Amino acid sequence: MRLKGKNIILGITGSIAAYKAAILLRLLIKEGASVQVVITSAGKEFITPVTLSALSGKPVVSEFFGANDGTWNSHVDLGLWADLMIIAPATASTIGKMANGIADNMLVTTYLSAKCPVFIAPAMDLDMFAHPSTQKNIETLKSFGNTIIEPGVGELASGLDGKGRMEEPAKITEFVVDSFTRKKKLQNKKFLVTAGPTFEKIDSVRFIGNYSSGKMGYAIAEELADKGAEVVLVSGPVSVTAKHPGINVIPVESAAEMFAGSTQQFPGCDGAIMSAAVADFTPLQPKNRKIKRGKENWQIELQPTKDIAAALGEAKTASQILVGFALETDDEIENARKKLQKKNLDFIVLNSLNEKGAGFRVDTNKITIIDRNNIQQNFELKSKKEVAADIVQKIIALFPAEL
Ligand code: CTP
Repeated sequence: MRLKGKNIILGITGSIAAYKAAILLRLLIKEGASVQVVITSAGKEFITPVTLSALSGKPVVSEFFGANDGTWNSHVDLGLWADLMIIAPATASTIGKMANGIADNMLVTTYLSAKCPVFIAPAMDLDMFAHPSTQKNIETLKSFGNTIIEPGVGELASGLDGKGRMEEPAKITEFVVDSFTRKKKLQNKKFLVTAGPTFEKIDSVRFIGNYSSGKMGYAIAEELADKGAEVVLVSGPVSVTAKHPGINVIPVESAAEMFAGSTQQFPGCDGAIMSAAVADFTPLQPKNRKIKRGKENWQIELQPTKDIAAALGEAKTASQILVGFALETDDEIENARKKLQKKNLDFIVLNSLNEKGAGFRVDTNKITIIDRNNIQQNFELKSKKEVAADIVQKIIALFPAEL
């Protein structure tokens, strides 16, 4: 009964492998989980809701409204109820809808409302699985923090042999159990993360900003939360969102607001990761009205902002850790080292603007980590999620061995 007390949504879509979902459902119930099946119309062509409701002991949900009495099935309530959502089998079509937010059925709306970890077990023909469209959608789902349970290689319903077989129910069950029982390495730790750009007001309609998307900082926040940490994310204006329930976002706009939010939060934290691209200068006299266009040149006087990382470096206690970023174009290593010293950081993550695929507005990054002992680690070009995992690994290594 390793899943006693856990609420699980089992999403079933239209694939031959849907029959295996009944076995998976049985195994989850045997482990003590409470399971709510949500099935697509196509899923019902492959397995009957009667079998599934008998096994789960609950009516199967498929439509937005109950067919008999018109009761509304609340995907929002379901999403909040669940500790975990598994979509097994997941077809190429459902994967595509999930990746792109096409909420035209109960399963995808429930997915969009879910605050819990989501596991996806694809099942399809080998060519469909290998198609760039499917692979791109899978990458997108991974970037949202969802876990893909890779399909196996073997005989497929089409008669062909290849990668696309849904993972066996027993293995998926072990995966689920493991996700609940794995010791989270950063349990009971709290981190501050800064992310995104800052906007410095010029007048009521204009600002000075930069190209930071916030993707790197949000990926770090998700990774820390995945490892069990509580995260306060002080974020400049970005279009990315934080999905993990362990992340508390404090939205700010200017460098001054980011400074205030960060210095207020830092004392209660075990560490801070400064990934924001903070403006170095801000207009000295922002105007509260729109400045009119004129014939003369326009000069704006700028004053330096406060260095948040340096302020936290000064305030930091022996048990707190501080991680900074450096974005350099010249003398990269030397400049990064100087920043590490000046801001009293434990390590600094250098992204070079000279590297293709690294830095602002891209989904990948190539970093070098330099620590206080002057040890330098060079990493390959990777997705920002993988880079975040490398950075968090290094953070975990800085805490005493009890972790
Ligand atoms: N940083 C900060 N507050 C600032 C400026 C920078 O917290 N006002 C942090 C960044 O989040 C990053 C690190 O300091 O972690 C280095 O930022 P960077 O812009 O590379 O360095 P600066 O100190 O601004 O130096 P310069 O722009 O002159 O290279």
